[in-house]
Order: sequence, then C-alpha cells, then structure tokens
Amino acid sequence: MSKKLTIAIDGFSACGKSTLARMLAEKLDYIYVDSGAMYRAVTLYYIQHQLNTEQQLIDHLKLIHIGMQRIQGKNITTLNGINVEKQIRSHAVNELVSQLSTISAVRQKLVLEQRQMSKKGGIVMDGRDIGTVVFPDADLKIFLTASIQIRTQRRFEELMAKGIKTTQDRVRKNLIHRDMIDSNRDDSPLVKAVDAIELDNSYLTKEEQLELVLRWIKNLQNMPELDQ
Ligand code: CDP
Repeated sequence: MSKKLTIAIDGFSACGKSTLARMLAEKLDYIYVDSGAMYRAVTLYYIQHQLNTEQQLIDHLKLIHIGMQRIQGKNITTLNGINVEKQIRSHAVNELVSQLSTISAVRQKLVLEQRQMSKKGGIVMDGRDIGTVVFPDADLKIFLTASIQIRTQRRFEELMAKGIKTTQDRVRKNLIHRDMIDSNRDDSPLVKAVDAIELDNSYLTKEEQLELVLRWIKNLQNMPELDQ
C-alpha cells in the first residue's frame, strides 16, 4: 500500500485552497482540515462573548472547543458543540479574523490541535502556515495564487450562493486587508515555504487543477491506483 501523505496547501485569501484541499482529500480518501475555519471559530467566539481585548480572549482559550465533522459529504465546523459553519463566513468574522490570528497564544492552541489531527498521516490541510509551521516536513507543499480580480469574483459568488449579501468592492477590500495582515504579522506570517510548489490557478478549472496536483502526487509516490 502507498504511504499516506501529509499535504500542505497555503496561499492568499480566497485563492481556492479549500476547494483543492477538499477535492484532493476526497480523491485520495484522506482527512481534510480547513485550518482557517478554526481561526474563524475562535473569532466567532470572541464576537459572541463580546470580548474586547486580546487578554480576555487568551483567558477564554481553554473554554473554546472546535470540532471538524464531515456530515453528508459536507465539512461542518462546530464551536462548543454547535454547528457554526455559516456564521464563521459572516462579515463580522471576515473583518476581525486576521487581527485575532496574529495572537501567538491563539496560534499555539490551534497548531497543537492541527498536529494532533495528522497523527496517522493521510491528511490535506490548507491555511497560511501549514507548510512553514504546522507541518514543516509535509510530503507535498503547494503555494496557491490567483489574481485579486479572480479571487474577488470567486469569493463574491461563493458568499452570494451561501445567502450572505455583499458587494464585489467589499469582498475585494477585505481580501486585500487580510492578505496584508497575514503576510506582515510577526508570528507565522504567510510566506511560501522554500520547498513549496507555486501554482497560479487563475486560469485553471477546479478539475484541471486537481488533475495537475494528482499527477504530482503520482510522481511522488508512484500510485497507479490514482490512474482511473
Ligand atoms: O478562505 P479564506 O482564504 O478567505 O480564509 P481562511 O482560510 O478561512 O482563513 C481566515 C483567516 O484565518 C486568514 O485570513 C488568516 O488571518 C487566518 N488563518 C491563519 O492565520 N492561519 C491559518 N493556518 C489559517 C487561517
């Protein structure tokens, strides 16, 4: 049997990391973890409990339990047992998540949990620091990029489909703002790992992108069963 790989996908906001990660995990029958959803769940907790300072959040960290479940083919994020999948995509969370993600205590808690999830291998995780910090020894590291116009369009359509009303301008500003904070923070900034493969998917369909990465994986471990 082929070795179960650890696959890290990092990149800027809304460049399709989760889509690629989900499709890969399905095809390979691996676990898929959307690490951004975990940072979003912490942010939702902060908002729901009307916390006002970094220290208050740090004091509450022990009380925050995040779960990732797969129900009827869909990934569900839970916060203290409650399904928060829709709420973590709200404007309020979008606008605060990168700020709270700069807090080292938050990162330490989530990185520890992310590493726990990979104990058996066979995992695809997407985020900002997966190839650099969470799994520096990952078997395959991908750094995804796409133009800001395309990322805006994709995220706008995604939010509208989820029933979250917004405008292209608001989406674009939020993506630029988050990218700026994520790339410039002191703790685990978003950078391409030296051994990551950069993939610009601006003009690739989801299927083309998947096919390309599956070919890389096949080369990596010579998995004939991925051929069909
Ligand atoms: O889906 P999108 O690209 O918009 O973002 P996300 O993956 O849901 O992540 C939301 C935010 O969480 C990011 O903008 C980062 O501030 C933070 N994050 C992080 O700091 N580290 C990660 N591994 C994943 C997300």
